[in-house]
Amino acid sequence: MQYRQARYDEPLLSEISSGNDYHHVESGAAIPESLRRKSLDIPSVAEYDVVRHYTRLSQMNYAVDIGMYPLGSCTMKLNPKFADRISSMPEFSTVHPLAPEESVQGNLRVMYELQEFLKKISDMDAVSLQPLAGAHGEYTGILIARKYHEVHGELERRREVIIPDSAHGTNPASAAMAGFDVVEIPSSPDGMVDMGALRAALSDRTALFMITNPNTLGIFEDRILEIADLVHSAGALLYYDGANFNAILGKTSPGLMGFDIVHFNLHKTFATPHGGGGPGSGPVGVRGELRDYLPVPVVEYDGKAYHLNYDLRHTIGAVSSYYGSFLMHLRAWAYILYHGGNGLTRNTERAVLNTNYLAKRLSGAYRIPYKPLKKHEVVVSSDSTGRRAQDIAKYILDNGMHPPTVYFPLIVHEALMIEPTETVSKADLDRYADIMLEAAREDPEGLKRMPLNTAVGRIDEVRAAREPKLRW
Ligand SMILES: Cc1ncc(COP(=O)(O)O)c(C=O)c1O
Repeated sequence: MQYRQARYDEPLLSEISSGNDYHHVESGAAIPESLRRKSLDIPSVAEYDVVRHYTRLSQMNYAVDIGMYPLGSCTMKLNPKFADRISSMPEFSTVHPLAPEESVQGNLRVMYELQEFLKKISDMDAVSLQPLAGAHGEYTGILIARKYHEVHGELERRREVIIPDSAHGTNPASAAMAGFDVVEIPSSPDGMVDMGALRAALSDRTALFMITNPNTLGIFEDRILEIADLVHSAGALLYYDGANFNAILGKTSPGLMGFDIVHFNLHKTFATPHGGGGPGSGPVGVRGELRDYLPVPVVEYDGKAYHLNYDLRHTIGAVSSYYGSFLMHLRAWAYILYHGGNGLTRNTERAVLNTNYLAKRLSGAYRIPYKPLKKHEVVVSSDSTGRRAQDIAKYILDNGMHPPTVYFPLIVHEALMIEPTETVSKADLDRYADIMLEAAREDPEGLKRMPLNTAVGRIDEVRAAREPKLRW
């Protein structure tokens, strides 16, 4: 087709009926007088002012490159620098997504091998790399369950997704977005799934039970096989929120635990950056016949070459443009190869050891609800100190470290949820414990005025959330 260049006074693209060939805006098209600026209000600043301004701004921030960042549930480990280097290589970063298959065999191989690694790690039968974040992976997994029930003629009846009250907020949100009714069940006094409540909630209306293991309290659900049996006997599917994979790598897997669908948060477990719901990657793995429902394309290998397969029998379609976040796949692939199976297992062991060490040091002053032995994260309550979790967090900030997640999960009063990960030294763990123990002894009124040493003092958090000012 010959593309004719559009002029500024022609209709907007959205107003053009299909069949027209308005595809490009002429670069030199005259801008009408009324829309032209008379002058540009650009400040004239010396290089030294610009450099110092941005350097100062960068110093006002806190980052994993500065120190420990133990936000529970977020797995803020230090991502190795080789992953940055590899994903910046122009050989990878400048490839066009529509390049012919035969010219990008290396990239397809990376994606194929990552699919295979994730299959092995999770004991699932097939993996799609398409979703772009953990929550997006959840949504994709739930759409798969939905289509599965539809194909089996049960969707009209199976309208419910059961989720424990300790779950991450994205779980019920994803289920609701996929059109299901959310049924919340309480946790038992030991911080695990209340089996009685689960039995009572399961019925022929259940489409899915969603759970993460270890759960958000850092506790391993040791009745998981019994849970899987109960869910499957009700004709429902079992969904694994893989956000907490860092706690189980090489030790067990969702497949061994009886799960049918799983998402991975590559940006938590496998060296890709974390932030703002992305730029992440949330691949989905499935078992058995569910492989036909995955989003397309999936990468396949016929023994000679790698191909993109768009033709899966019951596919839910594409959930992102092209193939997902390729550069994130690359980072995760490199991270897995770098550590190898034994290395990944050692990371998990170290993450769990670090958590339990910290929990032990804090246990004199802070209340540790539920079972004492944790996996990758521990939730402590500051109510035993007579101080609020928020004030303890500000004290930690004032002492140059990042506070834990606070007030989540909701089932723990004055919760501080700490996930040190494997990428901290014992010296840093000790420093962190010392600061938290000091905070528990600090004058409660003084704590309320903190932080005093940070670039920004205490802000009105409720107002900031309700009336965000997103522009200068
Ligand atoms: C347990 C759990 N599930 C799901 C998510 C959602 O992941 P994402 O932030 O990639 O959307 C998170 C994120 O922190 C999480 O901790």
